[in-house]
Amino acid sequence: MQVLDIKTTTKFDTGLEDVLKELETTQKDFWNLDRNCANFLYSLIIMKQAKNVLEIGTSNGYSGLWILKALEITKGNFTTIEFWEKRQSAARNYFTSLFPDSKPDCRIGQAIIALEDLYDEIQKGKKQSFDFVFIDANKKEYIKYFELVDKILAPDGVILADNILTHYEKVTPYVENLFNRDDYTSQILDLGAGMMLSVRLQ
Ligand SMILES: C[S@@+](CC[C@H](N)C(=O)[O-])C[C@H]1O[C@@H](n2cnc3c(N)ncnc32)[C@H](O)[C@@H]1O
Repeated sequence: MQVLDIKTTTKFDTGLEDVLKELETTQKDFWNLDRNCANFLYSLIIMKQAKNVLEIGTSNGYSGLWILKALEITKGNFTTIEFWEKRQSAARNYFTSLFPDSKPDCRIGQAIIALEDLYDEIQKGKKQSFDFVFIDANKKEYIKYFELVDKILAPDGVILADNILTHYEKVTPYVENLFNRDDYTSQILDLGAGMMLSVRLQ
């Protein structure tokens, strides 16, 4: 069987494409998704027609740019969390220069605290629940993220989590918890570092 080097065909306008290509040269330094996985994330958000997307783990904004591009189509909002200020400030610069009208909600701080804040804001009606959540921060904390995400996820919301196969030991509590839940259907995909897709059933 022929092994293909190019696995996606999506190409954007020059401005965005140039930045993505530049960020792809430092992908390993910033722990970004590879292009194939980023394209999958982009496609899922469009398929879901997601209106409120949350990302846990912004880094320098590589995956965020794909998310914003998808949200241009679905006309949705983006919230992203990162505790490393320098990284998120780089991300914010890319977001504002390439998507000046998008106004992403970029939160700096520990993911767990930020998730608790989001829960409070949703309870108070200041923010809407999320219909798509991308988990890509501290692998050991995935289970804690899930406990909070479960409270802020809309009915039939979708969760995509990265590094499931490369960090299996650390994410085992997350995987086992979701596999034991009757109110979610989950599947591990052998894509990039291993992604788990979970869909809430109610
Ligand atoms: C794998 S990288 C995210 C890559 C990004 N999603 C992309 O594909 O472009 C994980 C990021 O999560 C951040 N992070 C790790 N633990 C965190 C925590 N407890 N709270 C907030 N951010 C965290 C790291 O600083 C890092 O930038």
